[in-house]
Amino acid sequence: MSDPEGVSNHYTHGGLLDAIRAGLERLGKSPDTVDIQDLGPVDEFHIGGREASEQFLDQLQLSGDDHVLDVGCGLGGASRFVAHRYGSRVTGVDLTEEYVETGRVLCSWLGLDHRVDLRQGSAMALPHPDGEFDKAYMMHVGMNIADKQGLFTELHRALKPGGRLGVYDVMRVGEGELTFPVPWAMTAETSALDAPETYKSGLSAAGFRVVAERNRRDFALDFFARLQANTAAAGGPPPLGLHILMGETAPTKIKNMIENISEGRIAPVELIAEKLP
Ligand SMILES: C[S@@+](CC[C@H](N)C(=O)[O-])C[C@H]1O[C@@H](n2cnc3c(N)ncnc32)[C@H](O)[C@@H]1O
Repeated sequence: MSDPEGVSNHYTHGGLLDAIRAGLERLGKSPDTVDIQDLGPVDEFHIGGREASEQFLDQLQLSGDDHVLDVGCGLGGASRFVAHRYGSRVTGVDLTEEYVETGRVLCSWLGLDHRVDLRQGSAMALPHPDGEFDKAYMMHVGMNIADKQGLFTELHRALKPGGRLGVYDVMRVGEGELTFPVPWAMTAETSALDAPETYKSGLSAAGFRVVAERNRRDFALDFFARLQANTAAAGGPPPLGLHILMGETAPTKIKNMIENISEGRIAPVELIAEKLP
């Protein structure tokens, strides 16, 4: 999938903020009492949630001096986490207007709106000058972008020389037809999965040097096993969780993800790269 309207239609929920408010109430919280931990299960839309973010983002050497770009930021959960944990200033860009608008409200609830700026826009044409960012990352976004080299060329432009880029995407790691729907696409026609080799050649053609690679298959299967055990023990999903973002097809999408990963067709993979000076 690379048609921007198709992508944002796929992710648009229609009543997301109200659904999050309702979940908060069930947690016994309100916008005045909510904290960053409460939102983690719903505002980090990638395999492993906040736990995955911590393990991935620690490799970017983030600091309070950095201006960081969150590419395809979704609701901005990781943007807020980076601002909170590392003290960085963060700009998030995402195609889906509802995610950006909802994310801005979540930033204001947490008092992070002065350090986190979320904007609607495309990762393929960022509204920022050359060399604006010290670091950049994208989590579970490339599965919706067919032109990987074009994407990495644009991120290379927006980064300072020596700047780090982290990619944490679901990638094609084996043969076999995928079972759909999955969280990023309802059918094969709207999925833009690529192998780690394609990512790495796109990165190097754009002017990056890949410094680390990690396949997160076992972590992903363990994460899904824990999610299923918790859901079974509680008799249903938690008040705030990714089922809210994925809608009524959430159980099928999760089941298919587990099957596709278990069968070795796909896996979440991290790549860390540096812009060559
Ligand atoms: C699975 S969500 C991940 C969101 C966020 N990175 C996270 O981990 O919580 C994929 C996101 O990528 C965004 N996206 C897809 N293609 C994009 C593009 N070309 N430019 C900007 N955002 C894009 C979608 O709108 C969606 O919010």
